[in-house]
Amino acid sequence: MATNIPYIELANGVAIPQVGLGVFRMNDQEVLDSVKWAIESGYRHIDTASFYDNEEAVGKAIKATGIDRKYLFITTKIWNDIRGYDETIAQFNKSLQKLGLDYLDLYLIHWPAAGFEENWRAMEDLYKAGKVRAIGVSNFKAHHIEQLMKNATIAPMVDQIETHPYLQETELHEYLQEKNIVHESWSPLGAGLNKVIDNPVIKEIAENHQKSPAQIVLRWHIQRGEVIIPKSTHKERIQENIQLFDYHFDLTPDEMKQIAKLDSNQRVGGDPDDLTFLEHSTTFSTQNDEQ
Ligand SMILES: NC(=O)c1ccc[n+]([C@@H]2O[C@H](COP(=O)([O-])OP(=O)(O)OC[C@H]3O[C@@H](n4cnc5c(N)ncnc54)[C@H](OP(=O)(O)O)[C@@H]3O)[C@@H](O)[C@H]2O)c1
Repeated sequence: MATNIPYIELANGVAIPQVGLGVFRMNDQEVLDSVKWAIESGYRHIDTASFYDNEEAVGKAIKATGIDRKYLFITTKIWNDIRGYDETIAQFNKSLQKLGLDYLDLYLIHWPAAGFEENWRAMEDLYKAGKVRAIGVSNFKAHHIEQLMKNATIAPMVDQIETHPYLQETELHEYLQEKNIVHESWSPLGAGLNKVIDNPVIKEIAENHQKSPAQIVLRWHIQRGEVIIPKSTHKERIQENIQLFDYHFDLTPDEMKQIAKLDSNQRVGGDPDDLTFLEHSTTFSTQNDEQ
């Protein structure tokens, strides 16, 4: 299947595919199957993290597809238990080895847990050494980025944050646009937890376009200029989640406004300003350790 997923240019000129496959909470077999179906369907971008404990499976899966490395965009993230310059370099090399890669496309600080400035210092050096094509952050609010920039010499190219119609983050979205930092959305479908695809407004727009409610939500993200990484372990849904770029599939300004009205500041994940959550998160290293 030919790919028609657009690319967005990061501040340093690197192109990131606007849709990727997220692999959070996938076991190894699910990763092997889903990545295979994704690549066959036209995906070229995979989002993992050391915390997901499936980097090795991602590495095996991409190798099994036989696709040339240069066509892939692979992201991983550094977890909150690793802080410090040397520790960051060591963790990066460990992730790279697990993924079976000799360079990474995007490396992110997973959460703004205390001490992220040293992660960044090491990431700048990894970037300058050509080990990673782009560096960024995740779950950073504007004030975290401002704090990072006090000593940084390179600005983050991406901020990956929870975003869906019930948590639109419009102010942060505008801040990121102004700073030329690409807004990447995690849980773009609300993780299947907040039932956003059952919302009557979304369902009605879906009927008008002869598309699924999930496709309406994903298309809304695309028209806001975000990068999205929907997760699915089902072949049909993996395919459905990139069928967003048909010639006649455009949400009208009125439909975009109707979805804008659904914003209710409701998270499905942690709040980056919740210091208790951040502190607790430093006591485990993978989702399997989480108590
Ligand atoms: N940086 C961070 O802190 C952070 C946090 C969370 C997630 N993420 C990243 O973001 C990715 C996506 O977020 P997420 O996994 O939390 O949630 P999501 O992509 O918003 O939603 C995934 C859920 O929606 C279902 N689904 C997928 N496509 C569908 C479709 N077309 N129709 C109906 N249901 C559909 C999936 O079910 P099935 O799998 O059963 O199809 C799953 O239950 C993650 O995998 C991860 O890579 C990052």
